[in-house]
Amino acid sequence: MLKNALVLSLFVVATLCKPLHKRWDDFKVKHAWVDGVPKGWEVIGPAPPEYRLAVRIGLRQDRIDDLIAHLYAVSDPNHHRYGQHLTKGEVEILSTPHPDSTSLVEDWLSHYGLLNSPECQLTRSSSGDWISLSIPAGQLEQMLGTKYHVYKHTATETTLIRTTSYNLPSILHEHVTVVTPSTYFGRPKPQDKTSFIQSVGKTLSETATDLGINDAHDAHKHTVSPTCNSKITPSCLNALYNISYTPVSTKKNSLGVAGYLNEFANHADLKLFFAGFRPDAVYGDFNIVQIANGGNNQSDPGVEANLDIQYTLGLTYPTPNTYYSIGGSPPYIPDGNTPTNTNEPYLSFLDFILDQGNIPQTITTSYGDDEQTVPRDYAEAVCNGFAKLGARGSSVLFSSGDSGVGGGDCLTNDGKNRTEFLPIFPASCPYVTTVGGTNGTAPERAALFSGGGFSNYFGRPSYQSQAVETFLGTLGDQTYTGLFNASGRGFPDVAAQGLNFQVVVGGKIYSVGGTSASSPTFAAVVSLLNDARITAGLPSLGFLNPWLYTEGFKGLNDIVSGNNPGCGTDGFKAVKGWDPVTGLGTPNFGLLKHLVVNRTTVGGRTKKWSVDKGLRRPWFS
Ligand SMILES: *[C@@H]1O[C@H](CO)[C@@H](O)[C@H](O)[C@H]1NC(C)=O
Ligand SMILES: *[C@@H]1O[C@H](CO)[C@@H](O)[C@H](O)[C@H]1NC(C)=O
Ligand SMILES: *[C@@H]1O[C@H](CO)[C@@H](O)[C@H](O)[C@H]1NC(C)=O
Ligand SMILES: *[C@@H]1O[C@H](CO)[C@@H](O)[C@H](O)[C@H]1NC(C)=O
Ligand SMILES: *[C@@H]1O[C@H](CO)[C@@H](O)[C@H](O)[C@H]1NC(C)=O
Ligand SMILES: *[C@@H]1O[C@H](CO)[C@@H](O)[C@H](O)[C@H]1NC(C)=O
Repeated sequence: MLKNALVLSLFVVATLCKPLHKRWDDFKVKHAWVDGVPKGWEVIGPAPPEYRLAVRIGLRQDRIDDLIAHLYAVSDPNHHRYGQHLTKGEVEILSTPHPDSTSLVEDWLSHYGLLNSPECQLTRSSSGDWISLSIPAGQLEQMLGTKYHVYKHTATETTLIRTTSYNLPSILHEHVTVVTPSTYFGRPKPQDKTSFIQSVGKTLSETATDLGINDAHDAHKHTVSPTCNSKITPSCLNALYNISYTPVSTKKNSLGVAGYLNEFANHADLKLFFAGFRPDAVYGDFNIVQIANGGNNQSDPGVEANLDIQYTLGLTYPTPNTYYSIGGSPPYIPDGNTPTNTNEPYLSFLDFILDQGNIPQTITTSYGDDEQTVPRDYAEAVCNGFAKLGARGSSVLFSSGDSGVGGGDCLTNDGKNRTEFLPIFPASCPYVTTVGGTNGTAPERAALFSGGGFSNYFGRPSYQSQAVETFLGTLGDQTYTGLFNASGRGFPDVAAQGLNFQVVVGGKIYSVGGTSASSPTFAAVVSLLNDARITAGLPSLGFLNPWLYTEGFKGLNDIVSGNNPGCGTDGFKAVKGWDPVTGLGTPNFGLLKHLVVNRTTVGGRTKKWSVDKGLRRPWFS
């Protein structure tokens, strides 16, 4: 009864606040690139007005702040709700837009005859926070008071339809977070560098000889073989990171690899990889899930995809591993007249995965873009999506980038054309765990390419305030003043090996490097930790950062040498404690496992995990 009264009074207020006249052509800029066409792209011509675009409209989620508060409550090891992850239904309740937002957007669509038109194929996400529909470019231009063009990416010759700015009717500004496709031109790049592909085309037996193989593939060896300094294999990582564990909870625990841009993970290559490097796993395999027209061409193995899956499964076998092949952003085909899916890939992935009842407890992605090339509204929408995965108990890991503090001339695109370090997105999102790269095993040092720095979009989250302030204190006020944003979210959070990974591609062994290798490696360790937690009757780790910065760091090897040059500087230095090169350090699985299962603080007093099964969920009653 009380509840009804409350709903009623909210309704009255909402009704009174509605403007009497809605004007759909009273435009206010939503997002515009100050410098016009982004670097690397050129205009080909106007978008054909009849060409249908797969449009996605993000509705403001009224309770997103609540959702973030829940995320922190269930992720903070000292909170009584630690580990009581939200269900799909709970996340959806917290993602629902205000009814006013829904009805205003519907009025807007209906003004253009789009709401009930069968050609538009309108669909909504479960919580109603995204509306997807197909709209001819000419009509979208009217709705957004802009012009769409066909653009070509000069280096890769790929084409797509975008605009350099778009508007929304004034009254929609507080109700709509983002409309895509619009100003996001980026194509997320895999964080591996082809220049790091070394010793092309060795056969497995040649490599076996190089590695003195029987020695190297002794799965649970404790000493790190000298060959690991120049060639990384699963057994090197097991020895280096103190991993000696066989997963048990393989019916409950799983790991996901998100892959974009036509990168296909190859079954035959995995088999060869296992034959060479993990013979006990030779009957192991991964699943493929294709999303948004993502492909699966087994004749076209991808370096990134194979690297990711060979090392996640190579370290976590027999844990089920899934490779998500995500489509989206296909080239614009001038003659095509059927609607194509031009949705940006991260959104397609989030849409799909958040709609699943069961999601992998660990998800790794080795892609990223310069943050400044990702429109802020788009970046915020995507980052909030990762927060939802964390709230549901999934650990989301991203590689930190392969250009140190920034690649190239590091000029800003804000009209000022200043030199500045260039953070990477989604690595800069505070709700993901970002993994930097290390080099060598004795000692383990920062890899020169290890992406790191500070976000210009996302402020410093409280979980890292002490760690980052300590670092800034050692850096001093004078170093790199004006080149980075000291109040932004610092990354990476952690690190793992990033060079010389032995990867089978098309039947041959390549040596591959980049933080692309680091993220799946750290993710594999997290997946094993999740297995140990689940086996002990505890919930999965979920969003890792609040735990990493308060307790988890005690199970990491602090990396204290090396630096990450870029933008014409030496970059930051890896120092004692957190640093924007290697974060808090690389994993020591044995110690981490003890922390996540028994929670004995190293050298300190013993705490136990309290297991509240979370049957009472007072925050939703
Ligand atoms: C699969 O990849 C191979 C090798 O790149 C290529 O020749 C073939 O056309 C591709 N098949 C499809 C259906 O795209
Ligand atoms: C920015 O400055 C560089 C030289 O520092 C110049 O080459 C470039 O054209 C400038 N770009 C813009 C958009 O003004
Ligand atoms: C890795 O370490 C070796 C030996 O110190 C050094 O020569 C090389 O430049 C380093 N590479 C990277 C990418 O850090
Ligand atoms: C610095 O970071 C803060 C916090 O995210 C942000 O509000 C601000 O706009 C950033 N400054 C610049 C110059 O980008
Ligand atoms: C490796 O982990 C074990 C626990 O499994 C621990 O006892 C040992 O100290 C660890 N080794 C190192 C070198 O930290
Ligand atoms: C750690 O916890 C596990 C699972 O609860 C238990 O079997 C093991 O005995 C504990 N180890 C220590 C050293 O307390």
